[in-house]
Amino acid sequence: MGLKEKIIQLKKDKNAVILAHYYQTADIQDVADYVGDSLGLSQKAAETEADIIVFAGVHFMAETAKILNPTKTVVLPDLKAGCSLADSCPPEAFSAFIKKHPNHVVITYVNCSAEIKALSDIVCTSSNALKIVESVPKDVPIIFAPDKNLGKYIMKKTGRDLLLWDGSCIVHEAFSIDKLIELHKKYPDHKIIAHPESEEHILNTATYIGSTSGMINYVKKYPQEKFIVATEAGILHKMQQEVPQTELIPAPAHEDNTCACSECGFMKVNTMQKLYDCLLNESPQIEVAEEIRKKALLPIERMLELSK
Ligand code: 13P
Ligand code: SF4
Repeated sequence: MGLKEKIIQLKKDKNAVILAHYYQTADIQDVADYVGDSLGLSQKAAETEADIIVFAGVHFMAETAKILNPTKTVVLPDLKAGCSLADSCPPEAFSAFIKKHPNHVVITYVNCSAEIKALSDIVCTSSNALKIVESVPKDVPIIFAPDKNLGKYIMKKTGRDLLLWDGSCIVHEAFSIDKLIELHKKYPDHKIIAHPESEEHILNTATYIGSTSGMINYVKKYPQEKFIVATEAGILHKMQQEVPQTELIPAPAHEDNTCACSECGFMKVNTMQKLYDCLLNESPQIEVAEEIRKKALLPIERMLELSK
């Protein structure tokens, strides 16, 4: 039996579910029960009846699944699957920031640790951030953390002033505007679509801005078009499966980036072998201290409620 077949068999034997993000490698996406964006993955985690959740994604995603499912076993193929954005918001500094700005509603992007979620009023993802911000009355000030690029985009879309935390994603900040313009000159008929974690100058070139699922749905809506895709390159696997005839080009990264397009090194530490091992050994498991979990659950539940 190959690794893929062994994983499928083990998954059945153990009543496990594999949830994967679009930035995972193609082989991992192909063995998963569900592939989605952060919101879709949280929704699946909230409703699963499996005993074991194998989270093929990064730590904050698996942690969110554990917060929603304290009695289930949640495993991550490699605990080194972190996130630069989550790391840019340490709990002590964020707690001091909140104390300095009382009376603000605290909205945090799901790409943060359980400790940060526990300090929040509502969590959001890139697919519901606008809706969540707009659910807060206009006269109530808002702290938005940790992604300043998504925050600036929401400010522009809603016309509201948000107090932003200075965090960002290294993967989405790796795109080169000069190279993107050059590429677009070469392929003027291609529409640029971008993830809102990208910088403002990249977003200004885009005909569509949205979450990973949003971007996939957009290209499905316009299969006759051609696209330059400004998000982590792993998305091209599922996107191309959905629109096999459509020409898709990944947006180019800066010269000093490790690859010509942009890949998330954290997402890519997960491999098929590690996926199999973590399911077999039920390790490494995600644990969240009960006190933090209870506090972090409320803002996640508020988000899920507002996203129905
Ligand atoms: P979404 O898939 O929710 O758009 O998030 C992108 C991301 O950076 C996940 O880490
Ligand atoms: Fe974090 Fe960026 Fe990687 Fe997403 S792409 S997991 S935000 S570092």
